[in-house]
Amino acid sequence: MLSPTQAEALFEEAQKASESSYSPYSQFPVGAALLLTSGDIIHGCNVENASFGLTICAERSALVSWISQAKQADAIVAIAVYGANTKYHHITPCGACRQSLVEFCGDDTVLVFRDAFGELTQKPVTAFLPDRFEL
Ligand code: THU
Repeated sequence: MLSPTQAEALFEEAQKASESSYSPYSQFPVGAALLLTSGDIIHGCNVENASFGLTICAERSALVSWISQAKQADAIVAIAVYGANTKYHHITPCGACRQSLVEFCGDDTVLVFRDAFGELTQKPVTAFLPDRFEL
């Protein structure tokens, strides 16, 4: 778990990340920020396409960036997600992103998000995908 101050700081990073969003079709910018064991922070944002199914969500965009930057040796401590157009910026990862996240997150990795009442909340990422698919 992060301290409340750390969680707020990571959530602000997710907000910053949402500013890079390419979302002309949904008008729904989303940002994600990964905090690594090294202290580095990796941003991700949703990137849409005229062929809607090609859209990549902010969470998976952050994961792709982390791997692409060859930072996989630095594990993911926490991920924050921010929905720009939602009340209280409340958003939790979609099903596809949950599956992608558990591929790389340990049991201690936490998701930082604002709940439906605006409260900054932390929960283990694995709690969002019980009985997940595994090979
Ligand atoms: N979106 C995300 O970026 N993350 C999620 O977990 C859910 C949805 C994006 C995809 C699309 O660009 C927009 O939000 C509306 O669905």
